[in-house]
Amino acid sequence: MKLSPSLLSADFARLYEEARDVEPLVSMFHFDVMDGHFVPNLTFGPPVVNALRPRLTKPFDIHLMIDHPAEYAPQFAVRSGDSITFHIESPDDPRETIAAIRRVGAKVGVSLRPGTPLEALDPVLDDVALVLIMSVEPGFGGQAFLPEALERIRELDRRIAGRSIEISVDGGIHAGNVGEVIEAGAEIIVAGSAVFGASDRPAAIRALLGAGS
Ligand code: DX5
Ligand code: ZN
Repeated sequence: MKLSPSLLSADFARLYEEARDVEPLVSMFHFDVMDGHFVPNLTFGPPVVNALRPRLTKPFDIHLMIDHPAEYAPQFAVRSGDSITFHIESPDDPRETIAAIRRVGAKVGVSLRPGTPLEALDPVLDDVALVLIMSVEPGFGGQAFLPEALERIRELDRRIAGRSIEISVDGGIHAGNVGEVIEAGAEIIVAGSAVFGASDRPAAIRALLGAGS
């Protein structure tokens, strides 16, 4: 499994140090960009992500929970290997969003809320490298994992058979449930509070990686 710790649960006054301290142990960094419209919460946007980009070496996994991903994707200064994930429920035309993400040089990811049918992804499956299954309602860290996500991961895994698309899962994952999330077919695990809410982060990361392998 690849671990993508969500900086949403890190100390925002020390974002760089928080990320740097776990960097040797993780595969990438997950950034939750929220606009107060698509979800009822505000976090950070391109200026903060772009300020961190030159200071960290692992790939950035940018999760846009915003109404207008096609408008804002061009503002991210990504590196090759980084991904930008948009929500299929956002009102922008997915083809325009995908084109905008490609133009900045990022891998394209698509995500969907827990209640959105997987069929909603059909029109974009030929154009994405990553599908992010939400296992909580997007907007906040620290929520409980929705168990119905497991069947959605299995069904998505069947639907994308033969394509090179990675499955990522985001929300409520901890050492006690990561094993079944991996077993269902996930390759990338996003975890916020299970990493940054722990007093001993290296131990928390080792517990996640151990339980997920
Ligand atoms: C929720 C975010 C998640 C969140 C996960 O809207 O997309 O990435 O940070 O946090 P935990 O792991 O605490 O559920
Ligand atoms: Zn996220």
